[in-house]
Amino acid sequence: MNDAQAGMIGALVGAGREVRDRAHAPYSRFLVGAAVVADGKTFAAPNIEVASYPLSVCAERNAVAVAVAAGHRRIDAVAVVGSGERPTPPCGGCRQVLSEFGGPGLTVIAESLDGTRVMWALEDLLPDAFGPADLELGG
Ligand code: THU
Repeated sequence: MNDAQAGMIGALVGAGREVRDRAHAPYSRFLVGAAVVADGKTFAAPNIEVASYPLSVCAERNAVAVAVAAGHRRIDAVAVVGSGERPTPPCGGCRQVLSEFGGPGLTVIAESLDGTRVMWALEDLLPDAFGPADLELGG
């Protein structure tokens, strides 16, 4: 990784950490912030929980929505800052959504509050992903 990439990742994690402070997570108390980079711009959002628990939405999917709302449909990286002792990896549902907009090469970074950082390519978190090409009918 070169200095520019390291700087980009540090800034992305910083954006996730900052937006985590605005999480609305009164039920789980598990605050999460996520930031995605698209076309060189950063879009960040926290998790939002509601009293009807299943309607709550993870930070990653909210961050993707912010990017899409701004006109960006291709993301290059996502950073997640959760609340656990270990870095919080994206949940299964979010992996599917991230795959839609980032593809198998998407860089996924997770950092815990104490600064422990891990990185993956999305294809390692979601091998053999179902995607748009699978909707093309055969025959
Ligand atoms: N959560 C996220 O926002 N992202 C993840 O990757 C894991 C889980 C949220 C969902 C819920 O609001 C809370 O964390 C506890 O599951």
